[in-house]
Amino acid sequence: MDQDLIKLVNKLQDTFANLGGELDMPQLVVVGSQSAGKSSVLETIVGRDFLPRGQGIVTRRPLVLQLIHTPIPSEPSASAPPYTEWGQFLHIDKRFTDFNEIRKEIETETFRVAGQNKGVSKLPISLRIYSPNVLDLTLVDLPGLTKIPVGDQPSDIERQIRNLVLEYISKPNSVILAVSGANVDLANSEALKLARSVDPQGRRTIGILTKLDLMDAGTNAFDILTGRVYQLKLGFVGIVNRSQQDIISEKSMADANEAESEFFRNHPAYRNIAHKNGTKYLAKTLNQVLMNHIREKLPDMKARLNTLIGQAQQELNSYGDAAVYGDKNQQGSLILRLMTQFARDFVSSIEGTKVDIS
Ligand code: GDP
Ligand code: NA
Ligand code: MG
Repeated sequence: MDQDLIKLVNKLQDTFANLGGELDMPQLVVVGSQSAGKSSVLETIVGRDFLPRGQGIVTRRPLVLQLIHTPIPSEPSASAPPYTEWGQFLHIDKRFTDFNEIRKEIETETFRVAGQNKGVSKLPISLRIYSPNVLDLTLVDLPGLTKIPVGDQPSDIERQIRNLVLEYISKPNSVILAVSGANVDLANSEALKLARSVDPQGRRTIGILTKLDLMDAGTNAFDILTGRVYQLKLGFVGIVNRSQQDIISEKSMADANEAESEFFRNHPAYRNIAHKNGTKYLAKTLNQVLMNHIREKLPDMKARLNTLIGQAQQELNSYGDAAVYGDKNQQGSLILRLMTQFARDFVSSIEGTKVDIS
């Protein structure tokens, strides 16, 4: 039921995006300073290597990433494709089964629109990952917050990135993953500062503390991770991502996850809270948060959809017979009609009526 609901929301979001419209749907947005580990965190949630990451400005366009859980076929069949995981971009009609190629395509698309020299563009890249190994989530990766322009960046780059980030996190139904490096004092966290500006009570912000392995000897983040330093309703989760050296030596995701678990299990300060930290716990928490979030938003979404239905109906009426007979010049009206039907189905599904969503 809940998984279906999330699929339905994803589908609806796509429908509106394809029509050039906009519907505020819940999504998880990653925010933080440059190189805090945002792209690394997203990658480990997905469980595959596919995002450009590294020191300096790497993420230069928003990446809207839909994870879609696809069960493994119980019996091999002639019709099933010979792979179970693949990526699909909105800008290119092709199934990517090689995740290194997905990374290359993101890089190519980034360069194509944001230029060769560290420029940033607000135009998002849209990517879906189908896999039996993911939970159903929509995630947004964003360029990191910076202070100083480099390369072709304009002098007001700090403000531009800030505004870009705000565009995504100020939506009341976005969940903010505020990523801070544990090797930087939390009081200096740009992520928490910006998150607080749109979510002052910390209701829809999850604190993610990366780089626990890079803290100064003799210090630890126990007080932060247990909520004694900074209050967030959804709490803090500690993470150890792969280091730059790990990236260079192509350390596998599985090895990295194992090393992370071991880090928490064996660390004297984190041993007792190991089960509430790490990548796996984060993924579980996120899915739970997303489902609660959607549940809370249902009445509001229903009201919005009813308004849309009303508007679409009016527009349909104004087309008259042409809409009914599918006049080629009136194709927009047919789309509108489909959209209306879809919205109706969605509303009735919220009301508990059985609908066919295939
Ligand atoms: P982003 O700019 O916030 O997207 O950060 P990236 O994910 O691209 O990571 C930036 C750099 O920090 C890369 O070299 C990562 O290997 C490194 N990094 C990220 N998280 C950690 C971590 O938890 N521990 C260590 N040692 N390095 C990390
Ligand atoms: Na980076
Ligand atoms: Mg990044």
